[in-house]
Amino acid sequence: TRKIIIDTDPGQDDAVAILLALASPELDVLGLTAVAGNVPLDLTARNARIVCELAGRSDIPVFAGCDRPIARDLVTAEHVHGKTGLDGAELPDPAMALQDAHAVDWIIETLRAEAPGAVTLCPLGPLTNIATALARAPDIAGRIDRIVLMGGAYFEVGNITPAAEFNIFVDPEAARAVFRSGVPLTVLPLDATHKALTTRARNAGFAAAGRVGEVVAGWTGFFERFDREKYGSEGAPLHDPCVIAWLLNPDLFKGREVNVEVEVESPLTRGMTVADWWRVTDRAANALFIGDVDADGFYAMLTERIARL
Ligand code: BDR
Ligand code: CA
Repeated sequence: TRKIIIDTDPGQDDAVAILLALASPELDVLGLTAVAGNVPLDLTARNARIVCELAGRSDIPVFAGCDRPIARDLVTAEHVHGKTGLDGAELPDPAMALQDAHAVDWIIETLRAEAPGAVTLCPLGPLTNIATALARAPDIAGRIDRIVLMGGAYFEVGNITPAAEFNIFVDPEAARAVFRSGVPLTVLPLDATHKALTTRARNAGFAAAGRVGEVVAGWTGFFERFDREKYGSEGAPLHDPCVIAWLLNPDLFKGREVNVEVEVESPLTRGMTVADWWRVTDRAANALFIGDVDADGFYAMLTERIARL
């Protein structure tokens, strides 16, 4: 099994990613760390616990981390995720407590306690917690097996501005630090996740996948209303579960080792991920940048795993 830490801002698609990880025996989820992003920190920390309880896993420790980006005001995404961040299903308030430690301290402590290379980080939101941990404890960089993150876009450009993807836009300074950290990176950008769209048939598959599947169908039904109304598309991209799916079966994805730099200066292109896809610079590759996913294979695996819960 692979030990992972999921850093997250749930978010319906974060929630589905967490469920996929908890349903998968190949992965040992050491804990969840919440960050401010889709909604403010108090809600993401609450939603992370709601998801653990939904999966019957109140034993998973949940930590609250940074409540705002390193150098900017927080930008949230209630227009996509609803006021709670998890609109679309009625779920009880969590009974499990939040851990006392700050997420950043716990990430550092855990990486120092585990063998070098034993832990994979899976960020599904703005990279504030991860960059703060790397800045505070540079020794942990060499102990991380890999960072597999959802964020950025290249050919698919932006979903929060014309140039930028939400997670990178919210905390570009944090993203830049992560991309320059030297830690092996796998990046699931919009180029991949926009090919993993929900459809009526895929939602029906979730709805038929038991008690947890019905909740997932409620979330995706809510989440895709935004894309349907705004873009007339049939469904919505299930971004964050792509991170967990890549860990479980990288053969579902195609990408390239390229250099990726993050724009932090220009107001026009703040948070843009400039991927040297055609290797036109001599900048060294720092990320496996994923451009394609086998959507049918992805949904088949996701639905089968959700049904296990
Ligand atoms: C990312 O932004 C959030 O709204 C989603 O949870 C996902 O992590 C997609 O741009
Ligand atoms: Ca997210």
